[in-house]
Amino acid sequence: MATLVNKRILLGITGGIAAYKSPDLVRRLREGGAEVRCVLTRAAAEFITPLTLHAVSDQPVYQNLFGEQPTSEVVSGGEAKAMEHIELARWADAVVVAPASADFIARLAQGRADDLLTTLCLAADAPVAIAPAMNQQMWQNPATQSNVETLRRNGLHLFGPGDGSQACGEVGPGRMLEPVDIARLTAGLFESGELEGLGVVITAGPTWEAIDPVRGITNKSSGKMGYAIAAAAAEAGARVTLISGPTALADPDRVKVVRVASAQEMYDAVHTQVHGAQVFIAAAAVADYRPVAPATTKIKKKSEHLTLELVRTPDILASVAALTPAPFAVGFAAETENVEANARTKLAAKKVDLIAGNLVGVPDRGFEAEDNGLLLVEATGVTELPIQPKTKLARALIHHVAQRLAARRGQTRERA
Ligand code: PMT
Repeated sequence: MATLVNKRILLGITGGIAAYKSPDLVRRLREGGAEVRCVLTRAAAEFITPLTLHAVSDQPVYQNLFGEQPTSEVVSGGEAKAMEHIELARWADAVVVAPASADFIARLAQGRADDLLTTLCLAADAPVAIAPAMNQQMWQNPATQSNVETLRRNGLHLFGPGDGSQACGEVGPGRMLEPVDIARLTAGLFESGELEGLGVVITAGPTWEAIDPVRGITNKSSGKMGYAIAAAAAEAGARVTLISGPTALADPDRVKVVRVASAQEMYDAVHTQVHGAQVFIAAAAVADYRPVAPATTKIKKKSEHLTLELVRTPDILASVAALTPAPFAVGFAAETENVEANARTKLAAKKVDLIAGNLVGVPDRGFEAEDNGLLLVEATGVTELPIQPKTKLARALIHHVAQRLAARRGQTRERA
């Protein structure tokens, strides 16, 4: 079943009587686990107030393009930070316009950016869906039909419309779908099916190498990157197993989670789970060294100096890449400098298919941050995935891996 958990939905509302259903739609999306921000056109504000939408979404409500205050600053007592339109478009995992009026559809089909909502739809790199709502004659008008066809060709998703009695008293096509159906279709936007039926094993988070029963060596990995990859792989239809070091994150939906602490435990869990998997992605920040002999009781402060003897941990990624047959193996490289060169060195040293290099040790990306950027280094070349929320970045990485697997399958068929 498709899921909205942790999805950021930008809900566009245009001028139409069906806008009275918008609060219910916000509620349904939030019940599914999504975070929802509303954008109203000028005409929409004639049918529904920003205050109502702010109350049901618990998020800023936006109406204005450029420079003007977001409505949220009025309705939420100035708590919300002003956001540029590009930043708002980038925030969204999907844009859903419901209701979408005939006028809005026409403006969008022309590629206009004359208000905030059309601008956001143009600027979004996320899927955009429209749920038309209008009089049946307006819907059937060839101008509307040709505009809808243009949008469909441009890759927009069409939710409905439904057929039946209309607010104007007429009967026919043009009714907005019910909020429950729009919420279900919105969840479906994230289901790519690109890894349908494949097994994917992912590592995430830090490891914990015990020094004594209460102290250990660890690092700042939050697990966000690896958990986002697990969620994206599940959305792509894979059977996903996530081997996680200690994190504060909830288990992703439809993912089998195995929780471990040390690098050795992670190694053992990976080798128990990886057989038969087609993809292995090592996003965990695994300790390279562990104390040789952890103390069995708490170490007391006795002398001025304390020396810990450390020993290398097993290299999980390299050991999986050396299996026969080996899954498509993706490693990460967390680098404070020379990302591409270091990633290339790790690609060769660990004999993997792809290394996703990321810059760490800088604010707002890498360890702990919500956003990240990746440099995908392969024997055949380099692909840059620019800085974006880890949830989106994970989908882009999974899409890239799916393309590589599809190409491989094509080559195998050609040889056969
Ligand atoms: O968890 P977040 O807060 O979201 O942060 C994400 C991240 C920065 C941790 C992630 O994007 C990342 O870069 N993960 C890999 C971190 C790391 O340990 O990189 P490395 O360059 O030290 O290791 C190279 C690769 O070998 C990694 O895929 C690592 O998982 C793997 N490895 C390393 C050592 C070891 N003993 N076994 C391994 O499998």
